[in-house]
Amino acid sequence: MIGTGRSDVHVTITGLGAHVPERVVTNDELAQMVDTSDEWIIERTGIRERRIAADSEALSDLSVPAAQQALEQAGVDAKDVDLLIVATVTPDMMFPSTAAILADRLGARDAAAYDLSAGCTGFMYALAQGYGMVAGGLSRKALVVGGDVLSRILDWSDRSTVVLFGDGAGAVVLEPTAEAGFLAFELGADGAGGEHLWLPGSGSRKFEDPDRFVKMNGREVFKFATRVLVQSAEAVLDRYQARVEDVDVYVPHQANVRIIDHATKKLGIPSERVVINVDRYGNTSSGSIPLALADALADGRLAPGSLVLMTGMGAGLTWGSALMRWTIGTTA
Ligand SMILES: CC(C)(COP(=O)(O)OP(=O)(O)OC[C@H]1O[C@@H](n2cnc3c(N)ncnc32)[C@H](O)[C@@H]1OP(=O)(O)O)[C@@H](O)C(=O)NCCC(=O)NCCS
Repeated sequence: MIGTGRSDVHVTITGLGAHVPERVVTNDELAQMVDTSDEWIIERTGIRERRIAADSEALSDLSVPAAQQALEQAGVDAKDVDLLIVATVTPDMMFPSTAAILADRLGARDAAAYDLSAGCTGFMYALAQGYGMVAGGLSRKALVVGGDVLSRILDWSDRSTVVLFGDGAGAVVLEPTAEAGFLAFELGADGAGGEHLWLPGSGSRKFEDPDRFVKMNGREVFKFATRVLVQSAEAVLDRYQARVEDVDVYVPHQANVRIIDHATKKLGIPSERVVINVDRYGNTSSGSIPLALADALADGRLAPGSLVLMTGMGAGLTWGSALMRWTIGTTA
């Protein structure tokens, strides 16, 4: 459980970008592949459609446009980025890292670049690392990317997983700021629950029956998700001594509308303050929170001064929250 930094240096998001593949896959299309229906998927998950990468698209291809938008908004030249973290479980390949590939494609010469694996919570972990590096003076301009092409590791004949996920990526630039920005973090992991959402056979552990696809115990993950979304949000608010009523914009991981509704009600956050886009993108794993931030910035809900609460959860099992005072966009 990692907590709030003690640094006097404030750190904020100065640029934000997001990108999804062009191809939309509707629930009706999935119903032609597996035994499911539009009604079942909407009722149990709230998902109506998702984006799926073309055969020629890898994670770095989705990340380049997202990163370029973020750099442009921040007014930062790629060559000045000194740290590049990509949070993902679907890198282009095991090595070189997607971060190194991305640094090369963006022209971020000499930036330290590495991938980070924390399941769907990856973006929250990477944000905390970027914050720590900038607050500690190791980095001046950090680019943090969260994204996944989960469609590559799904069993397209398994109706229990294939309906949930989609592909997408988001990026933020982190820089020191005079005030505001990140206020507190809370991260954690429970490896004992790892087998509820995993990809056995994808690394150095030998399995008798290796599997190339995601395996999930949906009910267990559902229970875990509803519990940690609430606990982690309460912990991060408590750390900054903020109240739920103070939160202007709540950005939960976009896994399932029922999970989000449960957390929202339990926390007591009014529904108009909750960002939801899982209906259009499904669960994009590490792309989920930056994609939702980009939506909220575009529709004017995120404005300078907004108190923003973000909470992710996913494979590991992992979870992570951040509380921040937003600093970019137009004041309403
Ligand atoms: C997967 C999930 C949507 C299933 O919803 P649920 O309401 O719990 O459904 P259940 O697992 O109880 O299954 C109910 C029935 O629907 C069936 N079912 C499962 N997937 C189905 C689908 N796509 N279409 C139709 N029926 C389906 C099940 O086989 C089961 O049938 P049975 O009663 O005959 O055994 C839900 O558990 C969930 O969202 N879990 C969290 C998953 C998640 O977020 N993972 C990523 C975390 S980062």
